[in-house]
Amino acid sequence: MKCRKCDRQAVFNMRRHKLALCEEHYPEWFVAQAQRAIEKYHMFAPDDRVLVAVSGGKDSLALWDVLLKLGYQAGGLYIDLGIEGYSTPSREKVERFAAQRPGAEFVVVDLKAEYGESLPEVAKRVRRGRGKPCSVCGLIKRHAMNRVARDGDYGVLATGHNLDDEVAVLFGNVLHWQTGYIARQAPVLPADREGFARKVKPFCRLYERETAAYTLISGIDYIYDECPYAVGATSIGYKDILNRMEEESPGTKAQFYLGFLRARKAGFFCEQGDGIDLHPCTSCGQPTSAPGLCAFCRLWKTTDRQRVNGCI
Ligand code: AMP
Ligand code: FES
Ligand code: ZN
Ligand code: ZN
Repeated sequence: MKCRKCDRQAVFNMRRHKLALCEEHYPEWFVAQAQRAIEKYHMFAPDDRVLVAVSGGKDSLALWDVLLKLGYQAGGLYIDLGIEGYSTPSREKVERFAAQRPGAEFVVVDLKAEYGESLPEVAKRVRRGRGKPCSVCGLIKRHAMNRVARDGDYGVLATGHNLDDEVAVLFGNVLHWQTGYIARQAPVLPADREGFARKVKPFCRLYERETAAYTLISGIDYIYDECPYAVGATSIGYKDILNRMEEESPGTKAQFYLGFLRARKAGFFCEQGDGIDLHPCTSCGQPTSAPGLCAFCRLWKTTDRQRVNGCI
């Protein structure tokens, strides 16, 4: 198959766009798609400082690479959760990537070094999430991202969520009619409070296989393995179902997600919880709806006795 733009052999074919491109024109197309999403959803401007949360996986490394190529002031943040067999190799991938781009700022938050416990240790101690540390993990990552963004004066926090991630979340929320979550799912989330970062997902319209192709063609080395705690996650099951539908009818995933965004814009889903009173945590200053300490700070103040007594 020939590239649509030149005479060379195509290396990647996108059935949903009926578009095949060569190894020079595919990365160009990909970078242009990211720029279009950034502009369409008013994610950020060239004078904004953008913090990219990089996990060592293909999507977030590709995102950091693309933003730097586009000339944005993009720094990277890696959160080392201390997950055995997973955190160390993924951290190495991010560190190597950052070392090859010495002009870019790069921060590592090492949970065990800074707070004394790794994610599996803290999850075991507070016994949340029925033995799986994923819910504590989300809390810790959000807190670290907000903290580094605020300390580093980043107005924008970018994550590598791609269209497959967004569609799987949407699918799950629709199945369970989680209307509050549906209303809050968007390519851009405004800052919780003055001084906090706006959250953006520049790859929300790109398929996972498209980000994978970009990293391969661009020679970006990433961690192939998923987090061991993600094995058997419902979102992976949803992705399989959606991929089967996509196989039958190319473009299904994009149609579902983009149709949702149009419905959202037309006002089909009204945001709930706007009335929630957020105030600064008395310890870290991050916005929280809880009186006193935020959920993150409570993690480290929790003793076994408090837990047994049902204080949390
Ligand atoms: P996940 O929740 O693993 O699907 O990751 C979603 C996004 O969160 C990734 O694309 C990254 O932008 C960010 N992310 C996940 N894990 C980390 C981490 N350990 N450090 C920094 N950012 C992360
Ligand atoms: Fe958070 Fe796996 S990365 S539990
Ligand atoms: Zn070409
Ligand atoms: Zn706090």
